[in-house]
Amino acid sequence: MGKDVIIACDFKGKDETLRFLERFGSFRPYVKIGMELFYAAGPDIVLCLKERGHKVFLDLKLHDIPNTVKKAMTVLAGLGADMLNVHASGTIAMMEAARDGVLAAGGISPLLIAVTQLTSTSEERMQNELLISASLDETVIKYAKNTKTAGLDGVVCSPLESGLIHSACGNDFLTVTPGIRFSGGAASDQVRITTPADAKSRGSDFIVVGRPITEAPDPVLAWEICVSDFV
Ligand code: C5P
Repeated sequence: MGKDVIIACDFKGKDETLRFLERFGSFRPYVKIGMELFYAAGPDIVLCLKERGHKVFLDLKLHDIPNTVKKAMTVLAGLGADMLNVHASGTIAMMEAARDGVLAAGGISPLLIAVTQLTSTSEERMQNELLISASLDETVIKYAKNTKTAGLDGVVCSPLESGLIHSACGNDFLTVTPGIRFSGGAASDQVRITTPADAKSRGSDFIVVGRPITEAPDPVLAWEICVSDFV
């Protein structure tokens, strides 16, 4: 599986997204559609970006009862996305249902991954607010093992956790890592962050980069730097 840089297209709507991607000329970067864009633009945005030749990570982080997740996953896989995800905290049963839902769609199955703990969550908040008394690393590893048990392809995690996860779940188990910043860049709401080059040395399989590219004075150059530092 080739490493790649996925641009988080956290835009308000389809027009803004297409205007942004037009700057890339004949390049067709791997893009991530998250909740804001999907809820604003609807399923059509996935079909439109696939038609233009982009690979699409549809980042909707499903978390509901297994039956609901299964049926929703069949719909999402039918849109032709290349990568879909759920929250691992929804349990192994929910993740197995997600996998069954993807298979029921037929065709080429997208990669199916699970969020361990959001990269905006600190250990302190996880322990004090979610009452998870284990350490953040222990929690992330346990959630990754549950994800593997459920037959999914990998996890979304902090790049700082890729090595631990590969040791626990094997090198074929994918780590998709947001929380990427250029050195000296603003962390914003992210907590567990690092640079593209460091993510590469820690073994991340995909990096997800939003604001450091979308808010850069020259987004194409920022993307090219990510690609040359990471891929
Ligand atoms: O702008 P920034 O680079 O922080 O964007 C990161 C993207 O990755 C956002 O779209 C965010 O929703 C997503 N993400 C994340 N942490 C996760 C899962 C997804 O930051 N655990």
